Amino acid sequence: MTTAPRKILVTNALPYANGPIHIGHMLGYIQADIWVRFQKMRGHECHYVCADDAHGTPIMLKAQQLGIEPEQMIAEMNQAHQADFADFHVAFDHYYSTHSPENRELAELIYTRLRDAGHIKTKTISQLYDPSKEMFLPDRFVKGDCPKCGAHDQYGDNCDVCGATYAPTELKNPTSAVSGATPELRDSEHYFFDLPAFADMLKAWTRSGSLQDEMANKLNEWFEAGLQRWDISRDAPYFGFEIPDAPGKYFYVWLDAPIGYMGSFKHYCETTGKADFDSYWQKDSNAELYHFIGKDIIYFHSLFWPAMLAGADFRQPTNVWAHGFITVNGTKMSKSKGTFIMARTYLDHLDPDYLRYYFAAKLTSRIDDLDLNLTDFAQRVNSDLVGKVVNIASRCAGFIQKKFDGKLCSEFTDTSLLDEFQAAGDSIADAYEKREFARATRDIMALADKANFYIAEQEPWQLIKDPANAARVHEICSIGINLFRLLMIYLTPVVPELAKRVQEFLQEDFTWDSHDQLLTNHAITPFKALLQRIEMEQVEKVIEDSKAANAQASAPSTSNGELENDPIAAEINFDDFAKVDLRVALIANAEHVEGAEKLLKLTLDLGGETRQVFSGIKSAYDPAELIGQLTVMVANLAPRKMRFGMSEGMVLAAGPGGKEIFILNPHEGAKPGQRVM
Ligand code: 2FM
Ligand code: ZN
Repeated sequence: MTTAPRKILVTNALPYANGPIHIGHMLGYIQADIWVRFQKMRGHECHYVCADDAHGTPIMLKAQQLGIEPEQMIAEMNQAHQADFADFHVAFDHYYSTHSPENRELAELIYTRLRDAGHIKTKTISQLYDPSKEMFLPDRFVKGDCPKCGAHDQYGDNCDVCGATYAPTELKNPTSAVSGATPELRDSEHYFFDLPAFADMLKAWTRSGSLQDEMANKLNEWFEAGLQRWDISRDAPYFGFEIPDAPGKYFYVWLDAPIGYMGSFKHYCETTGKADFDSYWQKDSNAELYHFIGKDIIYFHSLFWPAMLAGADFRQPTNVWAHGFITVNGTKMSKSKGTFIMARTYLDHLDPDYLRYYFAAKLTSRIDDLDLNLTDFAQRVNSDLVGKVVNIASRCAGFIQKKFDGKLCSEFTDTSLLDEFQAAGDSIADAYEKREFARATRDIMALADKANFYIAEQEPWQLIKDPANAARVHEICSIGINLFRLLMIYLTPVVPELAKRVQEFLQEDFTWDSHDQLLTNHAITPFKALLQRIEMEQVEKVIEDSKAANAQASAPSTSNGELENDPIAAEINFDDFAKVDLRVALIANAEHVEGAEKLLKLTLDLGGETRQVFSGIKSAYDPAELIGQLTVMVANLAPRKMRFGMSEGMVLAAGPGGKEIFILNPHEGAKPGQRVM
């Protein structure tokens, strides 16, 4: 043991059960997995649990759309998620679902304790209600005209065009995105968690000094703005757990999601006996509890969650660690560019250890975004793992095998380099512990450079020509293999499958403390290629497949889903239609707008005249890919003054939003300025 054994429970944010895992998700799971593997190698008692986040309106509606029960959908998704994680060597000790008996019991327990302690309040609120679907509508399921700028087809929480945020009840001409019906206002009693009562406790936590700086700053902003009571109930129909003393009311998905960490751990404890649930969660627990999350869900994990736990008499997290998002080739993952890569698509062509290594090489303890540059990815993996690390073994193993019977020498006359590699273990361990993986891999690669320099300088391939040098060559190559071994011990948390092959080759099981010893007079197996280089063609295949998957997903479907969600509008006559002057337009320029979250500024050429149009398509398009394309615009729309300037028209696009916005593209031959009839 390097240090006294610790008891550690690690969780990662639970993925929603209505979609597949993509490589953006993988960043957090891999980060936590590396940290957990490191702790386990050090001999600590460390458990890594996760689950699917299975409740909520989007999941209920998606199952309806598929014509299956939500239970069936979430069970199938759970299988797919687990397969993706396992194949990326993310080794959860337990993977469960929030839709479980344990989670229901814990959610009820926490709720009742909060209620009995006076932390639950009720209040009647007015909300938009879909009379045809007979359900209250979450903000994202109401669309209408922005109350500030009048832009059509905006969501109930914010406007893509002018950036305004508002309540769904403020939307003009609202329609239900579920049925197309006009929603009406209805009163309903909601249950609220009294978050402000926990302000002092949360402030003390923020000041404890252990939080990431960016997180502490965010929390301080929220404290300044004032904490609000949190609405934790939703009315039927809802896929979730019914609130015990409130028939027809359900826990909001975000109430039972983090409790899902406990639910998963509880099921693990009860089915395997590997840990004692209470000793990890009771108030005076001496176990450590860490939540790895994405930066978008800090609010839930650093405010609601610790407060709920405190109010229900459980321990609070030791820490919550957020990471940034990934970009691919410098921009947001894009479906049309094929950089919106599903975990499975990656796995079809590439070894998961490559991505694990690349993420590790760029991960720090900060909340920065991480760019996966695909060319750099291939170069880095090839040069570091194949060219530097594995190369050491391949340069030395042949001699050991052929000349020395596959056995390493029994003693070393010079251990200076070995000493240096062994001594580096502590500072590499410190980097892992602090989640400074980029520092750990940088230090390991600096050592790998030294090992290669040593072998190049010693030239065993020259020495071996004279039989009198045999003992010397035996020592040099045994040192080389030992240096390689030390590097691989240090890299094991990052590239576990490669490390497994190396352990077979060396006939040894690694722990972190293995680095205190050296291998002498030890038989190794014949060297086989341990890791292939990445070929750019493999990367290109991933992109191609991702593009194809996207094209398939966005092809017109034969189901009536779209029309059901957005029924055809009331009939108009030809004159009504003719009032709308649609023109073919050339996108002469497209650029980001400083300060605008959703907008791109387009310069549209109508064959002589140009128009400036602000379009809410930033989430789906990179400006560079638009320039030079033809599209269709409404040319006679009254100009609108927006926060960033005048918008003189509108381009036509389809899709629900986010990454799925598709602008219209006339067939080749159409000319800018031509009227579309
Ligand atoms: O944002 C999300 O994807 C959520 N499903 C994360 C839940 S994490 C935890 F609280 F359950
Ligand atoms: Zn607006």
